Amino acid sequence: MLFYNEVNVRKQSSTLNILKRIPLLILSLSLSLSLSLSLSVGMAAMAERLMHAVQYESYGGGAAGLKHVEVPIPTPKKDEILLKLEAASLNSADWKIQKGYLRPLFPCKFPHIPVTDVAGEVLEVGQGIKNLKAGDKVVASISFPRAGGLAEFVVVSQSLTVIRPPEVSAAEAAGLPMAGLTALLALYQIPGVKLDGTGKQINILVTAASGGVGHYAVQLAKLGNAHVTATCGARNIELVKSLGADEVLDYKTPDGAALRSPSGRKYDAVVHCATGIPWSTFEPNLSEKGKVIDLTPGASAFLTFALKKLTFSKKQLVPLQESPKKEHLDYLVKLVKDGKLKTVIDSKHSLSNAEDAWAKGIDGHATGKIIVEP
Ligand SMILES: NC(=O)c1ccc[n+]([C@@H]2O[C@H](COP(=O)([O-])OP(=O)(O)OC[C@H]3O[C@@H](n4cnc5c(N)ncnc54)[C@H](OP(=O)(O)O)[C@@H]3O)[C@@H](O)[C@H]2O)c1
Repeated sequence: MLFYNEVNVRKQSSTLNILKRIPLLILSLSLSLSLSLSLSVGMAAMAERLMHAVQYESYGGGAAGLKHVEVPIPTPKKDEILLKLEAASLNSADWKIQKGYLRPLFPCKFPHIPVTDVAGEVLEVGQGIKNLKAGDKVVASISFPRAGGLAEFVVVSQSLTVIRPPEVSAAEAAGLPMAGLTALLALYQIPGVKLDGTGKQINILVTAASGGVGHYAVQLAKLGNAHVTATCGARNIELVKSLGADEVLDYKTPDGAALRSPSGRKYDAVVHCATGIPWSTFEPNLSEKGKVIDLTPGASAFLTFALKKLTFSKKQLVPLQESPKKEHLDYLVKLVKDGKLKTVIDSKHSLSNAEDAWAKGIDGHATGKIIVEP
């Protein structure tokens, strides 16, 4: 009986307990419902939030072909990162893609938001990203044909995204990915160059040394203990000397056009950042095993490359075709942080004035890097 009563009382009290808890249950259920509703509304709102971007809708058109639009902020996938843009830098490839020059290699999907080199703050990371978090400052290279850098927000993949320390400004960092990596990989192709300066001294010529790639190439070649001859326009001679070049030629003078070293040196290697210089101009200036690393090889360069290979020529022309890795970008950022490499900034433009930056890039007379900021 006691047992029965006890059970009965327990049953009653547990029923009472449940009854007492109902308002709490309702409250917590409604709270979690409204929380999940507001979360999904929040996420949808984020996905639907619009950003200012600059895009083009077909090949051609130059700066006038750029359109200012409001488009949804992109959403990062598992191995991607959403950045708030702080700086983007332009490269020749950006306008060459718009002109359709690289169409067989990198066909565009329209509308296309151009520009691949960006620096910014991490806002959101995909589930697969473990080494970065919201708030980190980074610099990244976005692969073609995706691009997307001329926008307030941009999605980048982790494969070429590295941390940017506070000592390196967003604009300095944004200059590095394509131009800096191209210069670095060109130097890696030169036998004997060691960027810690422990290699033997060789003679290197850098053409278009005032440009985006060339100004990094001069500085990196000097870190590699090279004697550097450089070519540029008269107005940039002092700047290129200040980057470390030992001798500088004005490319519009006869000696400059002939690439003749003022000290009579023969070049062991050329980092060829200019265009339109034939092999016949290089050949007499090369040392016995001189090598020209051609950054913009056309049909005739590929022909020369094949011919030199087939004839076992010691002098060679090599089209640059290396792929950069994350550690290369990390290395460049560290050099900037340590004050061993600097980004020369030609000009800064706001996103709302991206046309000016674009026209300057196409013009081909920049000194260093052209930067766009939101
Ligand atoms: N293979 C790759 O992965 C790769 C990557 C990046 C770039 N590239 C190529 O490399 C080339 C250079 O790119 P960039 O971004 O450095 O170009 P850039 O910044 O547009 O170069 C402009 C600079 O080059 C100077 N210049 C032009 N022609 C010259 C000449 N004949 N001799 C000496 N200086 C000259 C200009 O001086 P003035 O204003 O005084 O004329 C200007 O300061 C481009 O053709 C680009 O497509 C290839």
